[in-house]
This record gives sequence, C-alpha cells and structure tokens, in this order.
Amino acid sequence: MTTTRFDDGPELRFDDDDDNEPSIPTNDVAATRDFHEVDVWSDSFWGEDAPQREVVFRQLREHAPVTWQKPIETSVVPDPNDPGFWAVVKHEHITEVSHNSDVFVSSYGVMFDLLPAMFLEMAMSFLAMDNPQHDKIRKLVSVSFTPKQIKKIDDDIAMRARRIVSAVADREEIDFVADISKHLPIEMFGDMFGIPEDRRAEVAHAADEIVAWADPELLAGRDPIAVQSDAGMAIHALAEELIAERKHEPQNDLLTNLVQAEVDGESLTDFEIGAVMTLMAVAATDTTRHTSSFAVKALTDFPEQRAWLWEDFDARINGSIEEFLRWGSVVVTFRRTAVSEYELGGQQILPGDKVVMMYGSGNWDREVFTDPDKFDLSRSPNPHVTFGGGGVHFCLGNQLAKSMMRSLFRELHQQMPNFVAGEPKLMRTNFMRGVLSMPFYPNTGAK
Ligand code: HEM
Repeated sequence: MTTTRFDDGPELRFDDDDDNEPSIPTNDVAATRDFHEVDVWSDSFWGEDAPQREVVFRQLREHAPVTWQKPIETSVVPDPNDPGFWAVVKHEHITEVSHNSDVFVSSYGVMFDLLPAMFLEMAMSFLAMDNPQHDKIRKLVSVSFTPKQIKKIDDDIAMRARRIVSAVADREEIDFVADISKHLPIEMFGDMFGIPEDRRAEVAHAADEIVAWADPELLAGRDPIAVQSDAGMAIHALAEELIAERKHEPQNDLLTNLVQAEVDGESLTDFEIGAVMTLMAVAATDTTRHTSSFAVKALTDFPEQRAWLWEDFDARINGSIEEFLRWGSVVVTFRRTAVSEYELGGQQILPGDKVVMMYGSGNWDREVFTDPDKFDLSRSPNPHVTFGGGGVHFCLGNQLAKSMMRSLFRELHQQMPNFVAGEPKLMRTNFMRGVLSMPFYPNTGAK
C-alpha cells in the first residue's frame, strides 16, 4: 500500500498489491459520510423499470441532486471496503461531470457495478481510458465514423433495412427483437469490422452476454464473471483469427486500419484490437436495438404521435429519433472516479469518490424538458443525454445509430404503417434498459 496526494487534496491510498491492476484511489472521509435516506443503490430500486425509478429520481432532482449513497447492493466483484458513491441525477450535473474528464476519470472503471479489472482491458478499451491514451485510440477508430463515411454507407444501411423489414412484412405475428431490431446493428458492425456473415450471430450473442451481469433472469444462476469472461474471450478469439488474416491480406475495413495503425510509433497489440472490437460489439448492437424496440412500443401506445410522424415522415423523422432516444434512455448509468477535489451541486467531491451519472433521470429533468412524461416527437430542442453528457467520451457511434434508425423507421412506415407492438419483456440492469423480446403484429393488429 502506498499513499500520495492529488492537488493538495486529502491523502489517497493506493492498493498496489498487483502491478497489473489499476490502483484505485481512496480517501479517509468517504467511509464517514452519512448515507442519504432516499435509495438509488439497492437491488429492489434497480429491479424496477424506468417509470417507477423516475418517481424517486424526481424527488432527488428537486431536493437533493447530488447524494451520497450506500454501495451498490449486489456487485459482480463485491468490495467490502467500498464506501459508497455519489448519485448525480440532474441534467446540468451530468453534463458538468461529463465535460470535466480531467477531474472525473474513466480509467478506474465506468460501470456502476464493480467489475474485474481485467475486464476493463478486455472489453472496454478507450471507453475506460483517459487522455492522452483515450484520444489516440479513439482517433484511430473515428475514421469509420466521419459524417462522410456514414453518408457513404447510408445506402447500404437503407438497403439492409428494406430487406430485414420486407422479410417479415407478410407475417401475422413476429418477435420484434429477434426478427427486426437486432439485425441491422449487428450487420453494420459486422461490415465495419469485416466479420464473416456466418460468424456475426456468435458475436451478437457474446455482446448480449457481456451486459447480462446484473439481470438475474439472463444469468439464470450462472456466475457473472464466468459469463462475462467467456463472452469477452469468444470475441477476442474471433478478433485474433481475423487479425491474422488481415496481416496477410488487408481489406477495406476498420480491422485492417487498426492492424496497420501506429500509436506513438508502435502498432496496437492483437489484445488491444480485440478490446476495441469487444467494446464496439456491445456499444453498437444492444443500444440501437433497444432504442428501436422502445420506439415502436411508444408509437403503438401514442397513435396520435405516430400519425403526426407518418404525415410528413421525411421532414419529421430526425427530430422524432431524438425523442426515441430520450424516451428509451437505454443506457442507464455510467460511472467516473474523481481524482481531485470538486464541488458539484453543493457537495464536496473528494479524490477517490465514485460518481454515478443517472442518464434516464437527466432526460426527465423538468428544468430542461417541458412535460418530460409526454412522448412528444415534435420536442425541440431535445438536449437528451442518451449518448452521454458530452465531452471526450460522447458516443462515437451516435450518427451511425441515428442513420440505422432513420432507415429502419422509413421501412416500417412504408411497409407496415399499422404495426402494433405488444408488451415487451424487459431486461433490467443498472447499466442497460433493454427489450429482450416483444410480440409484434406487422399489419393485422394485436390478437
Ligand atoms: C441508440 C444507440 C446508442 C446509444 C444510446 C449509445 C450510448 C452511448 C453512451 C451513453 C456512451 C458513453 C458516453 C460517455 O461516457 O460520455 C457511448 C459511448 C460509445 N459509443 Fe455509443 N451508443 C449508441 C450507439 C452506438 C453505436 C452504433 C456505436 C458504434 C458502432 C457506438 C459506439 C460507442 C463508442 C465507441 C463509445 C465510446 C466513446 C469513448 O469513450 O470515447 N455507440 N455510447
């Protein structure tokens, strides 16, 4: 154990038993703070869906926007010395934390749950890095996400969306997730990395398993660490195979770019490239799928909103997608760790404190959104924090996600305008709000 000081702040202790693991700073004050009486830490709180959680978030936003909370109740790697965390629920504080990445860092982990340190390296890549390293890797990947590049693949996205929707347009009842919403994101991710068509389902399955850690139903009694590491290793194994191929036979894909890239004069290792691929597999596939699923449910529940969008689809779809994103709020939380003293919402944050941003709460903040409970496709402006609160980690794939949704909803509008979505089976975790399956009636209405 060593000690040090940051910015003249309190003394920090570093657990340096294992040189391979990032040392987590701690401070002496955290363990002595009183916990706030309103709970956003327990399993029962996170077992609820967003509307029930919103009742609690609203109370906090209005009376105690930055609160010290007990440690999360069930963690993948429980830490008996975990003193707790700061819950950040207001829009303005979420954007403040997100923009201050020198104070609120990511390299000690970004998940609310405490996950094995190895997992950060294996699956999070630059999402769990700080600058300068973060920017170097992000820049390499960004070449595939420039507006020019997205425009270039737009036709391909549209063609694929048309095929996916027309394949089931005549069916009486389908499952929206299995038959429609999961396909486009995995196909686009697969194209980007040059993953053979017959290996894509395997990657999609592994990406699902990686985020299953906090949902007891998805885990079905399995050990979350084993599930996560098996899934991560499956993606790394595929990455290794494909990297070896690209070294001999370069292709026109992101994987080849990463194989040929150099950071500070050095090539990325196969493991580093595998980690980028693992991060992107999760980031690209689950999020867009869940947002589309919540959106068709909302268009079913609020027919007047659907009628409004259908009336002038081309002019209204872009604004509507922003509301789909806010309404779904599929990424529920991300964490940072403070490395210097900072005052946030009247609270003194100390180095070593964990700070958890509750994006869904920010998206319901009445100081920013009028009638947040209303699904309002004409909402403008709509500064939701579904892609994060801004700053260096802001979602790299946001334009691609919007492009996929634009094409998908264009096809739904054209091929099955009277669809009806049934009741979704939800995935409930403190990281992702998702739809596991949902009956869907393309043309004939619910039975
Ligand atoms: C509806 C769809 C999506 C949502 C809601 C979403 C949400 C997010 C959020 C909340 C973050 C973290 C922001 C932060 O920490 O400040 C993020 C980061 C990221 N997302 Fe997305 N995302 C979506 C789609 C995608 C897609 C399609 C891709 C890629 C193909 C992607 C790639 C990434 C990457 C690479 C990062 C890490 C950025 C960094 O750390 O610099 N995302 N996303």
